[in-house]
Amino acid sequence: MLDELNKIKDSATLELQGISDLKALDDWRVAYMGRKGKLTQVLRGLSDLPIDQRKAVGSAANDIKTLLEAELKGRQQAVKDAKLAGGLDAIDVTLPGRPVSLGRLHPTTQMVREICDAFSAMGFEVVEGPEVESDYYNFEALNIPKDHPARDMWDTIWINRDQTIPTLLRTHTSPMQVRVMEQRQPPVRVVVPGRCYRYEATDATHESVFFQIEGLAVDKGITFADLKGSLFEFAKRLFGAERKVRFRCDYFPFVEPGVDMSIDCFVCGGKGCRLCSNTGWIEILGAGMVHPNVLKGVGYDPEVYTGFAFGLGVERILMLKHGIDDIRHFYANDLRFLKQF
Ligand code: PHE
Repeated sequence: MLDELNKIKDSATLELQGISDLKALDDWRVAYMGRKGKLTQVLRGLSDLPIDQRKAVGSAANDIKTLLEAELKGRQQAVKDAKLAGGLDAIDVTLPGRPVSLGRLHPTTQMVREICDAFSAMGFEVVEGPEVESDYYNFEALNIPKDHPARDMWDTIWINRDQTIPTLLRTHTSPMQVRVMEQRQPPVRVVVPGRCYRYEATDATHESVFFQIEGLAVDKGITFADLKGSLFEFAKRLFGAERKVRFRCDYFPFVEPGVDMSIDCFVCGGKGCRLCSNTGWIEILGAGMVHPNVLKGVGYDPEVYTGFAFGLGVERILMLKHGIDDIRHFYANDLRFLKQF
């Protein structure tokens, strides 16, 4: 009986060395240690043996079982290791990789850059300024005195209205006209992108936080023709070469004359549709010739220097360009929206 056991052990061990895949290893386990396996059968037959042999054969059989189980484990590990090391078999290198999900610039940032690029190409420099502003730069220096009804045009978020220098969150980027002119002598050509704040009830076309881009050009002999030419060029670049522009009188205390500029509707081509409220025209910005009082305030002689300024709402332009129906999308942080740009 012990002989038979040793034979089983030897043949099992020998066989095991030749096996190199996991399925065959399992078949081997079943053949020796499964319910009908060779070793199992020996163990089952123990009860038929005379008492004196039973103990010796039993413990030998158990030892062999332990040994074979250990060898099996070792062999399984070896097969797995060999597979991994072998590469091709375990890892299919021809499978396409998992795409890395990349972030992107916010649509407003993209549009700010696009607009600034358009003006850079015309010789404008891009500068930025503070979002927390003083009453002086936001209003006073822009020819909007205290208690002047024109202040109602800008619903203001005040930070501190009562201190010696009253502070607020800028309601437009126009204060930078003054800051820039205070710092330099003409010729001045700048565009100023930046966040603005208004004390507004929000709805589909009003947000309390939004972006504007300001433009300012001051030099000897700048005329309304320069304003028209520059803004026409910009409109064509952004909305298509076939665009037409229209200027109409408008009022801003810091320009004279003041205008609003419209482009012919790029959806209906001027025939009238929902986007242009059937007028054929879409307003895109406010502009005008810099008011003499503003020039005087920064020490420029209005008899020598003239200039034009403009201001546009970045989100508004994006909404027009892409048919976005609610300005609140820009700050809702909904990836389904943001991923479209
Ligand atoms: N700052 C004005 C606004 O916010 C826009 C503007 C800028 C108009 C420059 C004229 C010139 O409404």
